[in-house]
Amino acid sequence: MGTKRRFSATAVAAAILGASLIPNLAFLAYAEKASYSFERDGASTVSFGGQTARLKMADELYDGMNSNESTADALLQQFQEGTGFADPSLDEAGKDGKNVAGKTASGCLNEENAAAKEKLADMIKDFANNVIPAWNTAAADGSPGVLSDNKRTINVNSKGWEVDQTFQKSLIGAFALDQIVNNYIDACKLDSGTKQDDNTNGVTAEGKPYTSMEHAWDEAFGYLYGQEEDATADLSTPSGSGTLLNKYLKKVSAGDVAPGISDDVFKAFVAGRQAIVDGDYAARDAQAKIIKVDLSKVIGAMVVNYLEAYLEEKADTPADAIHSLSEGYGFVFSLPFTNDGDGKPYFTQEEVDGILEKMDNFWTIKEEDVQAVIDQVNERFGFSAPAAEEEEAPASSDDGR
Ligand SMILES: *[C@@H]1O[C@H](CO)[C@@H](O)[C@H](O)[C@H]1NC(C)=O
Repeated sequence: MGTKRRFSATAVAAAILGASLIPNLAFLAYAEKASYSFERDGASTVSFGGQTARLKMADELYDGMNSNESTADALLQQFQEGTGFADPSLDEAGKDGKNVAGKTASGCLNEENAAAKEKLADMIKDFANNVIPAWNTAAADGSPGVLSDNKRTINVNSKGWEVDQTFQKSLIGAFALDQIVNNYIDACKLDSGTKQDDNTNGVTAEGKPYTSMEHAWDEAFGYLYGQEEDATADLSTPSGSGTLLNKYLKKVSAGDVAPGISDDVFKAFVAGRQAIVDGDYAARDAQAKIIKVDLSKVIGAMVVNYLEAYLEEKADTPADAIHSLSEGYGFVFSLPFTNDGDGKPYFTQEEVDGILEKMDNFWTIKEEDVQAVIDQVNERFGFSAPAAEEEEAPASSDDGR
């Protein structure tokens, strides 16, 4: 960490400008600080090693869900026990009690969703026990196997799901997003026990340089940015590294459904953390709300993106279309783990169960049902459909079609 960060923007500005401007300085600090670096007595207070380890575990799991050498036992061990990885540091973390399943569908804002956890374990078993044995067999309705077109070759289950995709995209909501928006940046975690009094009074966690509230916020930060090479860099445009939320935040932010949201999310993480340092819990919660809404939009935008891709690709590149549909299915699975900023998901579990039932068999799924999901998600998240935007464009682009 460079010396230039050793003094907070607030302290430096106060020294230069004098005390009369103090009421505006908090704002100044938030506006200018483009780095997630925070210190107490010269030591960094930011720590999220456990989150980085779990994100890397998810990446290795994803590799395993793509390999015909995997077994159900080995994959379930990685998912549920956090051991059995090629990277020995991950096994260390696993032996320390860290794993992906334990943090899946279990944010403090909602009751633990055991059914979702079970469905993810079922995808693992389905892949190992049914998809792998049929690796080189042609897939058909009711039979797992391989599907190919001139763009892509995929291995699918008996319903046509490319299971590594349904699994990994489900984890983006049920694990990464859930841990952030329904757990670590929510008051149910930030203010639990004596966290608020301790933070207000500068009481740090035992043997640590940070307060427990600061650490909770950092753990949320870690579930998004934990695989960034330099987490103190300006992450307003993240690298997209890893296979989970960071990758898709980057993608959505560069698209036209919610352009630029990665900038808002990063600024809100920095400002919210500063608000915790300042003991300003209203300011903290205002920033948390921005993060909840914006990161939830990533899920909605990806549902629309992949289901539209499926409809477009279906006729000419059927395997590529099924790949998109599998991703779309996983993002739909993720919808109950979104948070509208007021603690409610954009779609309830019950609603999503109904949608997934209609999407269940990819061999017989109806186009109008897929279109209905797209329309519903656009409406619920307030995304304007691209067609509507085109209608608003100046008439000069009219080529007489
Ligand atoms: C495993 O996958 C490789 C690569 O797709 C393939 O060449 C091989 O035939 C597969 N082996 C079995 C036993 O399915």
